[in-house]
Amino acid sequence: MGSSPLLILIVLSLSVSSYARLTTTYYAKSCPQFAQIVREAAVNKQTATPTTAAGTLRLFFHDCMVTGCDGSLLVASSATNKAERDADMNINLPGDAFDLITRAKAILELTCPGVVSCSDILAQATRDLIKLVGGPFYEVRLGRKDALFSKATDVDGKLPTQEMTMEQIFALFASRGFSIEELVALIGSHTIGFSHCKEFANRIYNNSLTSDVDPTLNPEFAKGLKKLCANYRTDNSMAAFNDVVTPGTFDNMYYQNLKRGLGLLTIDQKLLIDPKTRPFAERFAANQTDFFQVFSRSIEKLSRLDVKIGNKGEIRHRCDAFNTKQI
Ligand code: HEM
Repeated sequence: MGSSPLLILIVLSLSVSSYARLTTTYYAKSCPQFAQIVREAAVNKQTATPTTAAGTLRLFFHDCMVTGCDGSLLVASSATNKAERDADMNINLPGDAFDLITRAKAILELTCPGVVSCSDILAQATRDLIKLVGGPFYEVRLGRKDALFSKATDVDGKLPTQEMTMEQIFALFASRGFSIEELVALIGSHTIGFSHCKEFANRIYNNSLTSDVDPTLNPEFAKGLKKLCANYRTDNSMAAFNDVVTPGTFDNMYYQNLKRGLGLLTIDQKLLIDPKTRPFAERFAANQTDFFQVFSRSIEKLSRLDVKIGNKGEIRHRCDAFNTKQI
């Protein structure tokens, strides 16, 4: 059954209105130091802890996909509320990414108290970090308010998992307005960061009845991963670079790796196997400028998902707690 024209109109005008009300100059008068403070905090944190960029990018993705880019993921659980942050899917998000937002917020509260939202800090810091590690620059529209709710149960079914089929992943992203091309570009975020051994163990141990190792994996790469992850059941901190060739640089090497069997996660290698994603993965492998253009467009779109404006949210005093205690 098709949607009624009225419904389409309402949905369109809602998304257009939030789009129109986010602006790149939102803090120009109320906090002119905003951009510089966030940039400095990001540079300092990334220099001290080089895993920050990837951690923050994943944090941003997980925040936006669940109830929108509203900083709901930054809130800590309380005695009466299990927050998004403590949902299983978010347990591995690195503390350094949260710490960056806390630090930037602390300086902003001293400079322009009660003005800058945590969700805007997260959106801006993510862009700064992507650029800092070699990725594209894109404009960040600002003016988000922070969420008034954060519930671990809201995460269910909103984030992609490796257990999902490609069709399920396509449907999930389509429901948030992303095309397959945009999805393939967004997963290109795996050009930086780590994955824990348990996330790809099924590719290197007991993969199938006939083969211990996933045959789509480069054999030398698989050998190295087996060695690295030998104790992964007892030491769950063991992790491998998502992009084994240029792990700390945001570039299109991730897609080039796939062609050599160097994709780490099942979802990575599937991008080259699935006929719907393959043409885009091939295109991005061949042309970094093309990848950067589609990625910029897609992450900018991600950064506008279900943003709260007006009285739909608040400017939190601290990013890990609502202004009013919730009962
Ligand atoms: C669509 C399917 C996707 C799946 C199944 C998936 C799954 C995963 C998994 C299992 C990890 C390893 C986590 C860990 O071991 O700690 C990971 C890491 C990561 N993912 Fe994805 N992901 C997907 C898409 C995305 C997208 C769209 C983005 C960004 C927009 C993204 C950004 C990242 C980043 C940056 C890391 C590295 C995190 C770090 O080093 O701390 N992923 N992903």
